[in-house]
Amino acid sequence: VSAAARTHLGRTLKALKESSYSTSALRQGEAPALDLAVGECWFDLTAEVRSELGSAISALNRIGYSHPAGESGLREAYLGYLHRISFLPAELDVLVTAGGKEAMWLAVSLALEADRPERVLVPHPGWAPYEIWVRAGDSMPVWYDAAALASEPARFDALIRQMEVRPGAVILNYPNNPTGAAVTQGQMDELVACASNHGIRVISDEVYRSFSNARASATRAPAFDPARDMMIDSCSKWLGAAGFRVGFLASGPEILDTLTRFRATYASCTSLVGQVLAETLLQSSAAELWLDSIRGAVDAIRGEVAKELERLGVPVVSHGALYIWARTSGIQDSGWNGRAERAKVVDGVEFGAAGLIRICIARQGLDPQRAASAICAALGGDRGV
Ligand SMILES: Cc1ncc(COP(=O)(O)O)c(C=O)c1O
Repeated sequence: VSAAARTHLGRTLKALKESSYSTSALRQGEAPALDLAVGECWFDLTAEVRSELGSAISALNRIGYSHPAGESGLREAYLGYLHRISFLPAELDVLVTAGGKEAMWLAVSLALEADRPERVLVPHPGWAPYEIWVRAGDSMPVWYDAAALASEPARFDALIRQMEVRPGAVILNYPNNPTGAAVTQGQMDELVACASNHGIRVISDEVYRSFSNARASATRAPAFDPARDMMIDSCSKWLGAAGFRVGFLASGPEILDTLTRFRATYASCTSLVGQVLAETLLQSSAAELWLDSIRGAVDAIRGEVAKELERLGVPVVSHGALYIWARTSGIQDSGWNGRAERAKVVDGVEFGAAGLIRICIARQGLDPQRAASAICAALGGDRGV
């Protein structure tokens, strides 16, 4: 790629070069026995849910292009689900995308194009693509402490006032990947109100929303403006269905119309099959029960693994949603004995935080002691063995 990148492709590859995204290597073995790196729920579908998904597919008598904005049935089902959580602005509508990542990329691209902000507020630690996209769009990320802001949203105003250059947009991500930090609806309301007071566009990445008790959403905040703000969601985490590649971008008609037209230039639609399956999961009471049980299991496993890690001397900084966020400093490389099982985790560098690791514990039947021992072995110590 030449230094003078011409398109989004060149600018993104240039921004990617300075990033460790997807290249993390934490002294992983060739074939880690316990994979706690991938950020998704690994739980088997129940027979009833599988049968409902199968019936939905066999009922299809046409598999053609879908509407560029997404199947109307899925869009209605998704908005219906949001309405069940809370009252929504009347103008709120939704665009179906190929996963939350595409929805997020579209949202960030629109903000960069429309506002040409010199600065964008990005959570720290945070999901690596945010920074890549912001840099690729010729803007600069300014990091804020996602956990500190969650516990004290009043800091947000001071943070913005201190900045030499006013940011044009803020990316919110609660619950946060990788720390699990979450907000209540009241805290979310405060953050959105503060951004609005300063004329800052909100892009709220809520793909982990269902893994926090509050289920806070920026769309419920009184200051959320569908003519300016955007909310991103996905079936990947919440519905345990990352393979469907179905995501959502919720906003007002003008933004959605612009993005739908833009999207149609490079993707004719989102997979009809994925959308039909996603709609089935969204409307199935069997799936709701299955997902409730997954959330319960994830909470229990996370608490137990965190406790076990602390017992073995691995400092847990925080945990929430699908993740444990732990410190690696203090772990001495006492020489891996070569016999212990190791675990694959993600290096904190990928989230802009060296000396930490992210562990995804959302695994069916995960034994907390086995997991904690394997993590210790992977870190070089063998104290868990
Ligand atoms: C914070 C965050 N946002 C968005 C996504 C997008 O997920 P998907 O494209 O699978 O919907 C992820 C996936 O890891 C994520 O961690």
